[in-house]
Amino acid sequence: MVTSALPYANGPIHIGHLVEYIQTDIWVRFLKMRGHTCYYVCADDAHGTPIMLRAQQEDITPEALIEKIGRQHKIDFADFSIAFDHFHSTHSEENRALSCMIYERLRDAGHINKRTIKQAYDPEKEMFLPDRFIRGECPKCGAADQYGDSCEECGAAYSPTELVNPVSAISGATPVEKESEHYFFKLADFENMLRDWTRAGHLQKEVANKLDEWFETGLQEWDISRDEPYFGFEIPDAPGKYFYVWLDAPIGYLASMKYLCAQSGLDFNNFIKEDSDIEMHHFIGKDIVYFHALFWPAMLKGSGLRTPTSVHTHGFLTVNGVKMSKARGTFIKARTYLEHLDPEYLRYYFAAKLGCGIDDIDLNMEDFLHRVNSDLVGKVVNIASRCSGFIEKRYAGKLAAEIHQPELLSEFINAGDSIASAYTGKEYSKAMREIMTLADKANQYIDDQKPWVIAKQENSDDELQAICTMGLNLFRLLIIYLKPVLPVMAEKTEQFLNVEAFSWEDSQTPLLVHEIKKFKPLMTRVEQEHIDAMIEKSKEDLTATENVSDEKNPSSGPLHDGPIADVISIGDFAKVDLRIAKIIKAKHVEGADKLLQLTLDIGGETRNVFAGIKSAYSPEDLEGRYTVMVANLAPRKMRFGVSEGMVLAAGPGGKDLYILSPDEGAIPGMKVK
Ligand code: 2FM
Ligand code: ZN
Repeated sequence: MVTSALPYANGPIHIGHLVEYIQTDIWVRFLKMRGHTCYYVCADDAHGTPIMLRAQQEDITPEALIEKIGRQHKIDFADFSIAFDHFHSTHSEENRALSCMIYERLRDAGHINKRTIKQAYDPEKEMFLPDRFIRGECPKCGAADQYGDSCEECGAAYSPTELVNPVSAISGATPVEKESEHYFFKLADFENMLRDWTRAGHLQKEVANKLDEWFETGLQEWDISRDEPYFGFEIPDAPGKYFYVWLDAPIGYLASMKYLCAQSGLDFNNFIKEDSDIEMHHFIGKDIVYFHALFWPAMLKGSGLRTPTSVHTHGFLTVNGVKMSKARGTFIKARTYLEHLDPEYLRYYFAAKLGCGIDDIDLNMEDFLHRVNSDLVGKVVNIASRCSGFIEKRYAGKLAAEIHQPELLSEFINAGDSIASAYTGKEYSKAMREIMTLADKANQYIDDQKPWVIAKQENSDDELQAICTMGLNLFRLLIIYLKPVLPVMAEKTEQFLNVEAFSWEDSQTPLLVHEIKKFKPLMTRVEQEHIDAMIEKSKEDLTATENVSDEKNPSSGPLHDGPIADVISIGDFAKVDLRIAKIIKAKHVEGADKLLQLTLDIGGETRNVFAGIKSAYSPEDLEGRYTVMVANLAPRKMRFGVSEGMVLAAGPGGKDLYILSPDEGAIPGMKVK
């Protein structure tokens, strides 16, 4: 049983998520090719405050929201060939039953504490506020607009009650303190077990080291309940109290497996019983190690269930060396990527970068283009296109009966063991390097044999067929080795070579005296203009800000745009030339789903501006209105024309966007100071 972390059901899948799903999918596909029985399960993480609030914002039920997002997630995953055996939801009956069972077992074994705590409460919204939904001045350094749990300026950690002048990020009201009874999981009961478990080979070394720091700080009780209103499961013996989303999220792995078992006639108990001999592997990002390496094994142990075989942790994705950024157009949604580029490019690129450690990996766009074109198109696919034409035209598609250079073929076959152990150990970059070294050798072989020269010689028929057969066999081995990474290319190759789906074992025997089909191009080159268009499109997505918030990190969430940016000097500010602008014309832009084209009068000069405000305004609402624009922004070439500035608007996006309007009396062209 293999899992990837459950994506929150309140935002789209983006390329940052895809590192993990691609990493896991490659591993599972590899294991399956090797003949292992393997189930890859996942689900949407459907509970919690941000999802409840987002549904309210959209004026739909949380059930309708998670249904809608779940559908999008499944399509995105399928289009990236992420082949889950089942994709479930944490808001499911299976998960409810398992969560209640685990909770009750923990409670009955004495691992749950109840006590009354004081918490910030929003008197307007009538709800308790998660720490991250309270903002105020840092009690240590006085920095304004900090989160309720820590200061981004001085790094201090504190409790929300210590914030100075706190406000609710939801309603803006001043929170009051209110008491409520909460349920706690006594993590410290498991300290000895966890100290052993974290050192018993279930984790990467660097992860285990990090955990040592946490042991030193002491294992705190974990607050597992939330008061209503909350979107989640009600705690069985506590009306009005709900399981905290992070309690039932990992149980969602089991719930998904349980559903799959029922569908396929498997015995679920075999997967979860304490002495289960089925391996259970979780792939996660390094931000959620605490939940998976401490809470989760402790919860399982405490409820008499098996613990994970391994938690495989990876680093974050950076793009062009820095954090994904909406403004730079590098916060790329899976869907936006798919509209411009072949998903197999990204699968290969991530594979070429992924090792077994927890370092961040970088998607460098230039390197991406170069590497995919040179490795996949230039090296691998090229081998087939260099050999297939002769076989097709001169030998009616028939491969020769013998291998031309058996030693070279053996070298390729023997390399399979090392490539396989690299896959097993998640050293995909090593596997890709070894495969590309073989691809170089295959091309060298063809360069040396020069089939195009032989083809012109008389009486060369046997030799030409032998060389091309050899070339195609080398190609076939490369594709077998690449199949976990490039399932679509592998499938096209299986059709071309007219064979059954490849297993790893097929690498042991060459393909001889066999009729193949006509060769069709297997992959086209990555084009710079497609990358550019994808980045542009992602910048457009910027204004229709997606909700990627969660309780762990709502900084880019729907309700607030995060902390105030870095302080700038008055001189810096003076550089921005803000002008009163009159919208003299507004119209739709063909082919753009977020943009309106505005013609702005700034006093004797008109500007053409593409503004991402279509979700909130129709053109006719805008014509004649006054607003504020940045007039000295460098013109930006977009797909639809040149944008000569920006208009100012506030709000999280979607329908919630508000362009700024001056008071009466302001006239076009006036400088805003
Ligand atoms: O961090 C996240 O995105 C969580 N939704 C991951 C949950 S993983 C598991 F525990 F469910
Ligand atoms: Zn501070």
